[in-house]
Amino acid sequence: MIVLGIETSCDETAAAVSKDGSIISSQISTQTIHRKYGGVVPEIASREHEKLLNEMVSNTLKDAKIFLQDLEGIAVTQGPGLSGTLITGICFAKGLALGLELPIIGINHLEAHIFANFLADPSLKFPFICLLVSGGHTQIWHVRNLKDYSLLGESRDDAAGEAFDKGARILGLGYPGGPEIEKLSMDGNDNAIKFPRALMKKYNLEFSFSGLKTSLLYHMDSHENENLNDVAASYQKAIVDVLIIKLKWAMKKTGCDTCVIAGGVAANQFLRKSVESMLTAQKVIFPDLALCTDNAAMIAYLGELYLSRGVKSEYDFPIQPNLKLV
Ligand code: KG4
Ligand code: ZN
Repeated sequence: MIVLGIETSCDETAAAVSKDGSIISSQISTQTIHRKYGGVVPEIASREHEKLLNEMVSNTLKDAKIFLQDLEGIAVTQGPGLSGTLITGICFAKGLALGLELPIIGINHLEAHIFANFLADPSLKFPFICLLVSGGHTQIWHVRNLKDYSLLGESRDDAAGEAFDKGARILGLGYPGGPEIEKLSMDGNDNAIKFPRALMKKYNLEFSFSGLKTSLLYHMDSHENENLNDVAASYQKAIVDVLIIKLKWAMKKTGCDTCVIAGGVAANQFLRKSVESMLTAQKVIFPDLALCTDNAAMIAYLGELYLSRGVKSEYDFPIQPNLKLV
């Protein structure tokens, strides 16, 4: 089956084509315009998607060497995400689906991040643990099958990506903050400053990162001429340490020996190296960088999985900015 996937939940405009379970074309355009504002401005993001979508989809189809008439279904991100940006993607997708008389499916963005791991490693088998670490979410999922998930724990406040983004802003760095902090950390001593780790009672799988961010703010207020490399490295380690220990506990608690790391923060090389060195007995899967951050390949892939099973949405399905997985 040939399915076009469209992703516009935040500031990446993306389109991809999935054919018989493989991605034959995937294009992503990251909106750099938000950098000067230190975060995504929803209205600007929506307008950018609106400008880019038509060309993005045409280029993706051209790259896949297929015509509109070859498509057999459309998959589009339904939520969670920003209302305005979701509307641009969904309206575009509905127009195409109605015009071409194709089935359409609204996709849960979080579920798609989890399933991106099947693209990264087609030998991945259920059940597995998924650490989902994006700009809006920090969650640990026990994934037993398609549509059979339980949430083992999540953040009570800021997501890990948000902690990177807010931390970067405090340090006067650009947006998105994760790559900026990672870059600065490379020349730093990650044991230089003892930042707090929250909710560390054994087997507690909840997260909290807002205290860490406040602690960074106090630290910067009370230390002039601080070595920013050391601060960034210590801050990054405080986030990564907590992610890894909780992932370890989740695997122990469920008896699962496979884990996958999904979402934008999974692009972090320090996280990757630390997971690999701390979870030696377990099978760990990280998607390629392009599959970690927002992309349409994961939307097209999951869309094809559902549409090929006859699962589809009504043509009037709404956006769901706060869509949950369970
Ligand atoms: O999954 P994603 O692309 O978008 C959401 O659905 O939120 O994740 C974006 C988040 C941002 O907070 C960004 O700072 C973080 O992923 N991120 C990173 C890195 N690259 C992106 N965090 C740490 N290290 C990175 N290299
Ligand atoms: Zn995402």
